[in-house]
Amino acid sequence: MATTIKQDDLSKKLPLLARQSAAEGMVLLKNELETLPLKKNSKISVFGRCQYDTYKSGTGSGGAVHTPYTVNLIEGLKEKTSLILNESLLTTYQEWIKINPFDNGGGGWAAEPWFQKEMPLSDDIVVDASLKSDVALVIIGRTAGEDQDNFNGPGSYQLTELEKDMLNKVTTHFSRVVVLLNVSNIIDMSWVYKVNKPEAITSILYMWHGGMETGRAVADILVGDITPSGKLSDTIAYKLTDYPSHKNFGHKDKNYYEEDVYLGYRYFETFSPQSVQYEFGYGLSYTDFSLEVKEAVMTGHGTEASLEIVVSVSNKGANFNGKEVIQVYYSSPQGQLGQPKVQLGAFKKTKNLAPGEQEDLHLTLSLKTMATYDDSGATGYPSAYLLEKGHYAFYVGNSIRRLKPVLIDNKKYYELNQTLVVEQLSQALAPNEAFKRLKPGCQSGDGTYEVAYEDVPLNKVDLNKRILAKVQSKSNSVKKSISLTDVNNGNSSMQDFVSQLSLEALMTLIKGEGMCSPKTTPGTAAAFGGISEELKGFGIPVMAAADGPSGIRMDSGKKASQVAIGTALACTWNLGLVEEVYEEVGYELKLNAIDTLLGPGLNLHRHPLNGRNFEYFSEDPLLSGCFAYAFVKGLKVHGAHATLKHYLANDQELERHAVDAVVSERALRELHLKAFEIPVRRGNAKSIMTSYNPINGVFAASNYDLNTTILRDEWGFDGIVMTDWWARVNHPVNGGQWSKDKKSHMVRAQNDLYMVVEHNEAVNFEADDINEAIKTGSLTRYELERSAVNILNFALDTFAFSNQQKRVNTKKIQSLKITNEAAYQVDDVILLRKVQKQTVLIKVNQPGSYIIEMQLRYHESPLAQAALNLELNGEYFTTIQLNGSEEDYQPHESSLVDLNKGYYELVIDNVRPGIDYHSLKLKLK
Ligand code: BGC
Repeated sequence: MATTIKQDDLSKKLPLLARQSAAEGMVLLKNELETLPLKKNSKISVFGRCQYDTYKSGTGSGGAVHTPYTVNLIEGLKEKTSLILNESLLTTYQEWIKINPFDNGGGGWAAEPWFQKEMPLSDDIVVDASLKSDVALVIIGRTAGEDQDNFNGPGSYQLTELEKDMLNKVTTHFSRVVVLLNVSNIIDMSWVYKVNKPEAITSILYMWHGGMETGRAVADILVGDITPSGKLSDTIAYKLTDYPSHKNFGHKDKNYYEEDVYLGYRYFETFSPQSVQYEFGYGLSYTDFSLEVKEAVMTGHGTEASLEIVVSVSNKGANFNGKEVIQVYYSSPQGQLGQPKVQLGAFKKTKNLAPGEQEDLHLTLSLKTMATYDDSGATGYPSAYLLEKGHYAFYVGNSIRRLKPVLIDNKKYYELNQTLVVEQLSQALAPNEAFKRLKPGCQSGDGTYEVAYEDVPLNKVDLNKRILAKVQSKSNSVKKSISLTDVNNGNSSMQDFVSQLSLEALMTLIKGEGMCSPKTTPGTAAAFGGISEELKGFGIPVMAAADGPSGIRMDSGKKASQVAIGTALACTWNLGLVEEVYEEVGYELKLNAIDTLLGPGLNLHRHPLNGRNFEYFSEDPLLSGCFAYAFVKGLKVHGAHATLKHYLANDQELERHAVDAVVSERALRELHLKAFEIPVRRGNAKSIMTSYNPINGVFAASNYDLNTTILRDEWGFDGIVMTDWWARVNHPVNGGQWSKDKKSHMVRAQNDLYMVVEHNEAVNFEADDINEAIKTGSLTRYELERSAVNILNFALDTFAFSNQQKRVNTKKIQSLKITNEAAYQVDDVILLRKVQKQTVLIKVNQPGSYIIEMQLRYHESPLAQAALNLELNGEYFTTIQLNGSEEDYQPHESSLVDLNKGYYELVIDNVRPGIDYHSLKLKLK
């Protein structure tokens, strides 16, 4: 029986925008012999099983969108009637895939393999194909994701033997081969020069994972309906070992950020340009552009100075429209601190320029944004953002290697005669542990620097004092008559509102329930706010949060649109387009009454093996931060929120809930924090998710400097901070042993909301330490109220608040006419791992409101997630979600459902497989 989840809450505009943005994010690395775009009536042979099993996204929470459809490569190509596809080769692949279907690893958490076994090719097949066609397309696919880093071996970062064999055979028999990389992450590119006939690889396209429109988007590029305009958001080095974080990536307990501010191109351009195979910002077009700096003037003075540049861009080609990305880089004086050779300062993309058409782009680079942070005091200005005295040079181009100097007043540089302090701050988040960091040594004749090291400055702050200085004494008033609507109408202050709340109400408010709470939109990650009767009584709405970032994840199976992965979106370098895309995602959030999307992911691409790189944008903080800003702005159009995550330094998946990021304050501020600072300061983002890991010994969720000193006191953030799901905390000052129960540590740090506790568990005050902490004075009512104010101010600006009346949770379901009861069987223990759906007959003798109680277990690691849907007579009514644990069977309850006397067919649908169950009971409530 078909489920009746309403499936039409989809944006009609999104498919086209998703397609355009997926196409614009594709990066053309090579295109010789005018292979692309494919000519009209070209005869094409397509190799590689991913032509049918085209990936749309990476795995884990960031990819788990139930899309209404997905278009694979072949479906996309078939819509292009100008192409003649080698049908017999298509049939060969189809037949082989029938016998070797897509392996999802059983569908469990982080179980999907990184690659799919490739079809072995005989010489005969390839020779036959070469006789029938002019061009070969070879598609190679990879995936990775949450809890599953990539690995440096065949099938992940490297090609498998069968993939190499495919490339060798195809390049031997074809003279024009287009390699399509349907990958979630950059991969090793040494095959480009190692295959038998490298010159036969005439084109290479990073097509990434483009969401539900992947196949159409890549077909648009291949035939030239859209001219490629994507540029790499990362540096592709020859070897994995060339990346400066390589030595320290993938450790289980501590990761030393020895590369410091020399991450990605900041390292390669400064120390090791010869290690770069494809540079940051690089990507080809089908047409040629010329660019000319028409004007470059420094306006304003001192720290208020900014460079205004006008660049004239012309499409010099004769045949194709196209867009070009103009990138502005700057180089700062080495000074006392040492600096990367160049850094991205601004960028802009042109409109679609017709042959011969020209556009003037106006770019602004304010000097303030180039400030460096002195965490050692070497300049004489400790803990300040500053511009060291000396020469500042600027460059404009279309990749970090294709640059022209910008002359200002006919000079090659802008000179500062004295060091300027841009912002005086206090030390925050500095490491407690000594280690060495990278620094430029002597400069060589070729302009590069020798690798040198220096000691990282250590923490000197008395954090306890800093925290207590802000804690005020507070007691609640007794008057209990203000509703949240009164606050919204300006009849009462938020502070008065929270003052009247009982301690119990405050203790409930700082917890979210999930996943798949029956109190809000089914299948979402969390319900928070008015999750108890007491809170509801004050008019506090139940808010919903859902993953993110590339579309809405609803484990109920409800459909939502899915757009390209974060990396692909960043490779568009087109902020306006990404804003439009997220405007439509925001519309879908509104239709589904979801208040915040758990994204964008803003961790930097510190190392190519990080499994969640696909959700993140780039190795560069400016690019990442600007895309996050576009994301926030787009969602806001329809009133939805973004939740910036994972704050901070969640740069690997291995031991993500435990590995300590040991980082200098300077690297944090100039890179890792910067990516978040941009959408907070410029975009007024209202929601942030902290990461699982500790940063310099203190978990993000209980880290005071991270959540209060920097985020709120320095950046002026006034929204909510939530933990990542089932996060660990430790002592905000002393660090040390972790726990999940010490929520007082979280509140003290001003991480407002614990995500998540089980249904109805937010009112279980024995389950955590808040009560105790308040009694002993290690937490104050003032601090609880502070977080309550943050959560409730957010609540005023949500769909939940404006829709309060509309959410109805108890369903009424009609009974069924059954003649043969015996046709239904329930096994004693059903291993849902093995069956997708199980049907059970239920007999109701007495009309009333019921819940279904099931005994469930899920033997997996703690962050693994599985879920099942319950349907009664074809009506969806509950999703039950479980996290992995060693526990044996435990009772779990469905939401309330109103049933009349009669028969009901209960379908248990294993939507995220892995849960075992036995015995279910219908309970009258
Ligand atoms: C992930 C988050 C995600 C959350 C809710 C966590 O395991 O790290 O990115 O938003 O689960 O699904």
